[in-house]
Amino acid sequence: MIPVMTQNMTIKQKAAPKAVTRKKTAPKAAQKSLPLDNILKGDCIELMNSLPEKSVDVIFADPPYNMQLKGELHRPDNSHVDAVNDSWDQFSGFDAYDKFTRNWLTAARRVLKDTGTIWVIGSYHNIYRVGSIIQDIGFWVLNDIVWRKSNPMPNFRGTRFTNAHETLLWCNKGEGFNKYTFNYEAMKAFNDDVQMRSDWLLPICSGSERLKVNGHKGHSTQKPEALLYRVLLSSTNKGDVVLDPFFGSGTTGAVAKKLGRHFIGLEREDKYIKLATDRIKDIEPLEGDIIEITPAKRSLPRVAFGTLIENGMIKPGTILFGPGKRHAAKVRADGTLISADSKGSIHQVGASVQNAPSCNGWTFWNIEVNDNLIPIDHLRAEVRANMN
Ligand SMILES: C[S@@+](CC[C@H](N)C(=O)[O-])C[C@H]1O[C@@H](n2cnc3c(N)ncnc32)[C@H](O)[C@@H]1O
Repeated sequence: MIPVMTQNMTIKQKAAPKAVTRKKTAPKAAQKSLPLDNILKGDCIELMNSLPEKSVDVIFADPPYNMQLKGELHRPDNSHVDAVNDSWDQFSGFDAYDKFTRNWLTAARRVLKDTGTIWVIGSYHNIYRVGSIIQDIGFWVLNDIVWRKSNPMPNFRGTRFTNAHETLLWCNKGEGFNKYTFNYEAMKAFNDDVQMRSDWLLPICSGSERLKVNGHKGHSTQKPEALLYRVLLSSTNKGDVVLDPFFGSGTTGAVAKKLGRHFIGLEREDKYIKLATDRIKDIEPLEGDIIEITPAKRSLPRVAFGTLIENGMIKPGTILFGPGKRHAAKVRADGTLISADSKGSIHQVGASVQNAPSCNGWTFWNIEVNDNLIPIDHLRAEVRANMN
């Protein structure tokens, strides 16, 4: 059972997760007083202001979009379209929406660690207003991700293009706050070894994933778990704390629990708290090395090319080859290479033989073993494996 707390309750003390792979800036006391894996009931601005400063690793926010939908919408067969016309999405005008946005983003910034990042999802109705305010407050936009829906709702009236995407702004706390988590290698591996791009093609939440209450949608804007999976996989580590100030049906909590992250959900409405609570209690968390993240190359221990010579993996005098054997260079005892026209480090000679401004010598040069070319990077990986 997930504990639900109201604003008047004292925040429960719970042990902080063990340190993860990078430095945390929050004082330990702040971590300890977090209501981990809880849903707090109340207004998200007041609740965020009650949490310790700089205490959460990532914020995922799916705020009201202020859609201003007017009247009922019907399909060509006259069936009724379930549009988002909930009272929580209504504002008296842009001024009221902007004020609300500024207030919750300010509260979010206070509670976010300096190493943290914030995600805000929105549509054309609100994302430009959010984008401007988020920058005014001092956040720095790292990416705007376009979630392209593979199965969008058609434009029934035929008066506009089909609205087939939403936008996620991913921001750190400002230009200088660069120690945030981005699991670049993991996302590349996830994407069949191709860099993950900023346009994500994913279906909207439907079928058995869509929560129902008495045969109707349990929440009008339930986000797909696949979307949160990418968000959390890319920007958090095991044990991190993810805050969602607009928890709704608890999609963020469900995926956080599955991936071994902690969540804190804030939500005003009892019916959604119940929905989320029931949903999350059934989630089986993945554990152990299954949820280890492929480390970023820059966080791996440094191995110099000379180390491969020192430990006998490459002998001085060995010829290294570029791809397809189009270039060759000889290894010298001091760890430099010499080719027909140049000498220097593996990177310098790699760049020089290709007439390129720069080169990653580790991935460019290969040794020949039984007629096969093996990248010297593989030897470096062996050295690293033995360092652990
Ligand atoms: C767009 S929905 C979030 C949906 C959620 N991402 C999901 O997958 O189910 C926004 C939610 O924020 C809640 N909400 C709106 N204003 C709030 C506020 N000031 N404080 C707390 N919750 C609020 C609404 O009740 C609604 O459930």
